Amino acid sequence: MKLTVNGTTREFNGDPQTPLLWFIRDELKMTGTKYGCGMALCGACTIHVDGEAVRSCQYPVSAAEGKRITTIEGLDDKNEHPLQIAWAEENVPQCGYCQSGQIMQAASLLAKNKSPSDTEIEQTMSGNICRCGTYPRIRKAIKRAAEGTK
Ligand code: FES
Ligand code: FES
Repeated sequence: MKLTVNGTTREFNGDPQTPLLWFIRDELKMTGTKYGCGMALCGACTIHVDGEAVRSCQYPVSAAEGKRITTIEGLDDKNEHPLQIAWAEENVPQCGYCQSGQIMQAASLLAKNKSPSDTEIEQTMSGNICRCGTYPRIRKAIKRAAEGTK
């Protein structure tokens, strides 16, 4: 099976039902995407498939064939996506574990909606859990990035 990850074609020869998360982390050694719950409940493993935020812990490799897979490593060539810049400016992370998932979730929102309302941000981000409680800074950084992309 051929999979396009961050613009590069990769081969996968294992069980087609393997979660994308394991392919990304264990085979491609891209460890920015995290394992939290394994049940699509926390958002730590969020990546994009054809621009949509998906939970890679519950997304089989076979479902991504022929689609564009983007991980945090491929979000921006220089790690200068407006969200990544805003995240640094707002000092969002605490332990950092949930943060790539948070950024990927937010990036899918801003790609479609450059001026999200507080409610839209709330709804989009509600499934991404942060045990450190960085939620206020996350919201602030999303707003800041949205301002910069208008
Ligand atoms: S690890 Fe995938 S949603 Fe929690
Ligand atoms: S920064 Fe620690 S879990 Fe979110």
